[in-house]
Amino acid sequence: MKDIFDKLLERMGPLGMHADDAHEYFAFPKLTGELGPYMKFRGKETLNWSLNDYLGLANNPEVRKADAEAAADYGMAYPMGARMMSGNSDNHDKLEQDLASFIDKPEVILLNFGYQGVLSAIDALVDRRDVIVYDAESHACIIDGVRLHMGKRYMFKHNDVADLKVQLDRATKLAEKQNGAILVITEGVFGMSGSQGSLKDIIALKKDYSFRLFVDDAHGFGTMGKTGAGTGEEQDCMDDIDVYFSTFAKSMAGIGAFIGSTPEVIKFLRYNLRSQIYAKSLPMPMTLGAIKRLEMIRTNPEHKNKLWVIVRALQSGLKDLGFNIGITTTPVTPVLLNGTIPEATHMTLDLRENYGIFCSIVVYPVVPKGVIMLRLIPTASHVIEDVEKTLKAFTEVKEKLDAGAYKADRLAKFSS
Ligand SMILES: Cc1ncc(COP(=O)(O)O)c(C=O)c1O
Repeated sequence: MKDIFDKLLERMGPLGMHADDAHEYFAFPKLTGELGPYMKFRGKETLNWSLNDYLGLANNPEVRKADAEAAADYGMAYPMGARMMSGNSDNHDKLEQDLASFIDKPEVILLNFGYQGVLSAIDALVDRRDVIVYDAESHACIIDGVRLHMGKRYMFKHNDVADLKVQLDRATKLAEKQNGAILVITEGVFGMSGSQGSLKDIIALKKDYSFRLFVDDAHGFGTMGKTGAGTGEEQDCMDDIDVYFSTFAKSMAGIGAFIGSTPEVIKFLRYNLRSQIYAKSLPMPMTLGAIKRLEMIRTNPEHKNKLWVIVRALQSGLKDLGFNIGITTTPVTPVLLNGTIPEATHMTLDLRENYGIFCSIVVYPVVPKGVIMLRLIPTASHVIEDVEKTLKAFTEVKEKLDAGAYKADRLAKFSS
């Protein structure tokens, strides 16, 4: 019989197969120095476009002070235990109330992590008779939540409302037969393409179909909408999002997440969400730090305004230069090029070593074979000179890519 450990090595997977060549450079790079647009990579300063610190709060002095004071007052352990048992506090309640009023939902429940929270929320919200209908480009946490579902699931083509209708027809027949209900899941902002979920069009289907809508707005919270309350606010349909999720890992520059919904749903989740009931509560410095960040987002629109100045300059600059940035309508800025995985690594090496530009490189299986995606995340901490430097560098590397300068059989070798 085979040994489990031996078997693992036979199935390293599409990313893991590059582990030996990529580790600590293309995968698991270590950025050092103060968090922000200029960080050191392997000792050299680079202009960094890979942090999801949209509003530039991660290293904001007021935020740092609040975090430090909370850590000094409470330590990192407090409170101990799950909230249901011994880990609840007035500050946890306050953060939930502040979030609820900001996103204009009756109630909110905190989650320790976004990924686990989504997985667990899907698990809690549906039973085996229910049917899930979800967008094909959903984040891994949705896909994995759907995989745990014991009932039927149907996937609809990304943002394709006609296909969603087809899937809803199938889902309705099945749900009616087995006395179940339907949950539709999509995202506010898709983190790879930067497209927005067609929330209004999906919501319009509620006239003809019976379903509840779950929206993961990890990239939309803080960046989208007049006040930054997210994609529901941007598309003026927050009331019709039945379950609104976002994480603290992006605009809030922290860790943790939350779900906003009706008092009944939140009460149900408090007593049924296994990722919270069976896990330690969010530590107090995270909780107080999130209260501080939210207050800054609420009271100072300048962070979001500065972000959008950079977003517009970067995206229009790239488009004017003929780059394909896909269909983004949000800060997420993909640059789509044609090439192989080895070419992608040689180009990235050139960008990092010779142009001092650090951005994420995304290849198959996240994008189709033959496509290289350089993913840029503009933030409020970038300045226009950063955009200009990047546009110049991108123009040069694209010329080299098109001229075949990065052609290779193997991944690029970096010297250690
Ligand atoms: C769309 C989306 N949902 C959920 C998550 C997971 O959130 P967290 O990092 O808090 O686990 C992420 C990534 O952070 C994300 O991009």
